Amino acid sequence: METKTYAKDCSLILIKQGAEARVFESTFVGRKSIVKERFSKKYRHPTLDSKLTLKRLNAEARCMTKARRLGVLTPVLYAVNPVLHTLTFEFINGPSVKDIFLEYGENGVSKEQLDDIASQIGDAIGKLHDGGLIHGDLTTSNMLLNNSTNQLVLIDFGLSFTSTLPEDKAVDLYVLERALLSMHSSCGNVMDRILAAYRKSSKQWSSTLNKLAQVRQRGRKRTMVG
Ligand SMILES: Nc1ncnc2c1ncn2[C@@H]1O[C@H](COP(=O)(O)OP(=O)(O)OP(=O)(O)O)[C@@H](O)[C@H]1O
Ligand SMILES: [Mg+2]
Repeated sequence: METKTYAKDCSLILIKQGAEARVFESTFVGRKSIVKERFSKKYRHPTLDSKLTLKRLNAEARCMTKARRLGVLTPVLYAVNPVLHTLTFEFINGPSVKDIFLEYGENGVSKEQLDDIASQIGDAIGKLHDGGLIHGDLTTSNMLLNNSTNQLVLIDFGLSFTSTLPEDKAVDLYVLERALLSMHSSCGNVMDRILAAYRKSSKQWSSTLNKLAQVRQRGRKRTMVG
């Protein structure tokens, strides 16, 4: 996790400063929590900006709640503050899949553990997609592994949206495939494992994977032109 710095309010510890949001560690009614604050874009008109920020905030909360309803583990949403533009979530104790995959082969991360995580990822995405939810930012930083249960928890629904189009589902998977290729090449064919689990989990796997083949081809053509 990134370097921790204390924000003005000592009950908030800044853990990530992004382009669109700041993420803090805090406590909510005595429980360790995460506060995600969407901040304004200075170049936008203030009223429009506030409306858009609020829309995104509500969309993130709704999509995360929908994912839970579909049987995918996500942090519990504790609170939404439309004035401060914050969401407060349950804190998940455990490493990101990014850190585990980067340590693969060291520190006791075994092939069995890698395979188990890969099948949990495929299973979770299949459930989201069959429920018409596209995550929109499937990277290994947006997946945590709960220390006490070893279960996968998906986070960061800031770019999520609802769609039943195979194209949208395929692009969701393609984003993950690219992220795995660029960051976790030492993990071998982890995407194959993920897709095998996706096939079992999603009833509509066939149309999505056909589209994925097309999306890959488009990606290759773009790389060749570039
Ligand atoms: N519920 C949680 N429990 C533990 N850690 C979390 C939780 N939510 C977020 N984090 C940590 O904070 C980091 C940033 O959170 P998140 O991915 O939601 O924000 P972001 O990437 O800045 O958002 P966006 O991509 O929408 O701008 C995560 O990678 C993770 O390390
Ligand atoms: Mg993120």
